[in-house]
Amino acid sequence: MPSAWIVFTGSCDAGLPERCLALLKRAGVSVSAAPSDEPGTLGVVVFGACDEELLTLLRRHGDGAMLLAICVGADPLSSAAQWTLIESGARDVLQWPALPATADEISARLQHWFRVDALVDSPAVASCLVGTSPAWRRSMRSVIEATVSTSSSVLITGESGTGKELIARLIHDLDPRRDKGEFVVVDCTTLSPELSGSEFFGHERGAFTGAVGAREGAFALAHKGTLFLDEVGELPPELQARLLRAVQERQYKRVGSNTWQRSDLRLVSATHRDLERGIADGSFRADFYYRIAGWQCRTLPLRERKDDVLPLARHFMRELLSPTGGPDVEPTIDPAVCEFLVARDYPGNVRDLRQLVTRICHRHCGGGVITVGDIAPEDRAVPGASPLWPDNSFRAAIRAAVQLGIGMKDISQRATELAVEMALECEGGNLQRAAARLGVTDRALQIRRASQRAPA
Ligand SMILES: Nc1ncnc2c1ncn2[C@@H]1O[C@H](COP(=O)(O)OP(=O)(O)OP(=O)(O)O)[C@@H](O)[C@H]1O
Ligand SMILES: [Mg+2]
Repeated sequence: MPSAWIVFTGSCDAGLPERCLALLKRAGVSVSAAPSDEPGTLGVVVFGACDEELLTLLRRHGDGAMLLAICVGADPLSSAAQWTLIESGARDVLQWPALPATADEISARLQHWFRVDALVDSPAVASCLVGTSPAWRRSMRSVIEATVSTSSSVLITGESGTGKELIARLIHDLDPRRDKGEFVVVDCTTLSPELSGSEFFGHERGAFTGAVGAREGAFALAHKGTLFLDEVGELPPELQARLLRAVQERQYKRVGSNTWQRSDLRLVSATHRDLERGIADGSFRADFYYRIAGWQCRTLPLRERKDDVLPLARHFMRELLSPTGGPDVEPTIDPAVCEFLVARDYPGNVRDLRQLVTRICHRHCGGGVITVGDIAPEDRAVPGASPLWPDNSFRAAIRAAVQLGIGMKDISQRATELAVEMALECEGGNLQRAAARLGVTDRALQIRRASQRAPA
């Protein structure tokens, strides 16, 4: 059983911590008192009231640690308060108006989260999918939960170059089935309506002109394995209709045959399109969508996980500069190059970064530090033309708020709150240094924090 840290906050009964700890001990959970936000740690936060102190604690630790919030107040938490706890960093919320007989529901949750996080950090995942940002970790947890907890179909959505295919392959690699079959890719952008039946289901000899021999289709080849429908958003509606039964029942007939065949496969699909919008405008069938989207994962664009730019760049440099292709070269990057890499926009996401790094490595010679001269003139930013701030991701966030109809006051208030939160994070919670970083007085920062009111 993994161990967890525990914190009691708000107006808890005097004897409650002792009784809670006894309960946890009986459930096999070993606890420590020192909160930590190390990635992969487990935390239990027992609280009497949903106040600012609690939310600050969750925000401080929830990015790295997996937090279970337990309300021991007599009044039930409103649904708004529960969502605020989740948004602030809790992974789940339990309500204990009276102490239950066992803490098994806690130990089950902690064990499950621990297993999932251990897989996120395992070499099988970390060696091919690079990322260290909290946002990346959250999306990997969701992929891994989908893979190990269910056999349902998975739909991966995300912009081009964000790693959808890598994730589909990972889902196959982590699939715990014994005598696993193959990973079979069907690229839906290249299917011709005439030959798609044969492509998916195979055909009998002589089934149509040119069918000189029998052939297996993707459903047969993916038996006991994974069928990956890449760019599923490009599949014309008539082909979606043809696939409905096969996807639902895992049964199909070869073209030219009357016999039903079975294929026990996991279906994974990927698209950069918004399929729900496709349903609304009639280009995508709702019945097909619900069959392919048993579980959904969204790959994040690089602008939403800028912390991953340098780890990814280092990963690609190691691959490119290492003579054996192994991780035996640890690249040293000049700070000016690091700054350039982080500040740049990546419309093509990780693929874009990979190509840029490839160009840098090709120009680099003589070993040693990667320097600004290794950046090709075409890649260099024109001085003054692309200020570090506000960058395009900032503009995109404001545009989204404006499109959602959020008012000016709310936008500035939320931006200020986030700036305070992030400055405190950067300065390890030190209020004076955070105030200096933001160019305000300590007192102004204190007042600002006090005015950020907790929900009822
Ligand atoms: N997290 C990651 N770690 C390492 N490499 C990555 C990661 N994400 C993407 N890549 C690399 O970026 C490139 C694009 O990845 P992939 O083909 O999986 O993206 P995609 O979302 O399927 O793109 P598209 O929509 O254009 O098909 C590949 O070279 C892949 O190796
Ligand atoms: Mg792809």
